[in-house]
Amino acid sequence: MGSKDSDQSLPEVGEAPLIIDVEFLEEEDETLAQSLDSIEEVSFSRPRSAMELPPSLPTPQGRARVVTVINQKGGVGKTTTVINIAAQIALRGFRVLVIDSDSQGNCATGLGVDKSKVKNTTRDLILSPETAVDSRHATAVENLHIIVGDRSLIGLEQEMMRQLGREKRMKEALQPLLAHYDLVLIDTPPSLGLVTINALVASDGVLVPVQTEYFALEGLALLSGTIREVRSLLNERLGVDGVLLTMHSQTLLNKQVAGEVLENFPDLVVRPAIRRNVRLAEAPSHGIPIHLHDPSSPGGKDYQDIATELQHRWSL
Ligand SMILES: Nc1ncnc2c1ncn2[C@@H]1O[C@H](COP(=O)(O)OP(=O)(O)OP(=O)(O)O)[C@@H](O)[C@H]1O
Ligand SMILES: [Mg+2]
Repeated sequence: MGSKDSDQSLPEVGEAPLIIDVEFLEEEDETLAQSLDSIEEVSFSRPRSAMELPPSLPTPQGRARVVTVINQKGGVGKTTTVINIAAQIALRGFRVLVIDSDSQGNCATGLGVDKSKVKNTTRDLILSPETAVDSRHATAVENLHIIVGDRSLIGLEQEMMRQLGREKRMKEALQPLLAHYDLVLIDTPPSLGLVTINALVASDGVLVPVQTEYFALEGLALLSGTIREVRSLLNERLGVDGVLLTMHSQTLLNKQVAGEVLENFPDLVVRPAIRRNVRLAEAPSHGIPIHLHDPSSPGGKDYQDIATELQHRWSL
């Protein structure tokens, strides 16, 4: 049925404002330096609207810091960051627990744990919190334990819908473990489901890996909204421990995006940017983190420097 409204024609496409974030330049400038200091000198066409990423609070005395590594955008380096930061911090003598809340289960593979031999997983941790202590497994790295994620996490959200207090299951399950660790690092899938919300409710802070490519800021805007909602409804302590620039190389686009992230969050960006380095991509196929595979590679060095800065921020 034709209405009066339907007669009103939309504006011509040509009249719609064209909004461009970053100029796309195909040419790579190999002479540009890697350092973030030079990144900050790159200028941008327009200022961004303010995005809120609240800083986090210190860890309460006598228990582990709980940190979720999150970005709803896929393939940005979340799992690589969990494996290598956890391993670095453990190598320095701190007790670290990794919880893999992603059904892809890549943390286990990257830390030399055979998923097929594991009895209890993150699914059990969430559904039966009393299994928490027995759900941990040793890894290829001393001081580093893991609660494995696997395909059994698929479908868990449906089951959880029937449960009371469903957003707080992981937080409750972790309580008996916290006094036994210095750091709990949670890997998340590239989606915002109930399991990811459980991780955010259980956490003191989040680490946000950001690939310095087009759409990076859009991913951060999405996350900013998620954190705002979790803070207002479920965990008012939640804040951001750091933003990590990942898979960074010397293209002008990488530098422009890194510059935009720095411009928006000067205090949250953890230096240095993690360079794109094939040794980081190879290490999981050997079941070991970069510090056992090739510690002197660019990726190995960058994750060591990032771990040092995070150790400071987490007061470890
Ligand atoms: N700095 C790097 N240099 C080169 N390759 C990298 C680097 N960081 C990660 N990778 C590779 O990029 C791919 C995606 O990384 P990763 O799995 O860590 O991302 P993710 O955010 O966990 O992905 P998903 O959203 O699917 O969980 C992997 O093959 C990984 O080995
Ligand atoms: Mg992952």
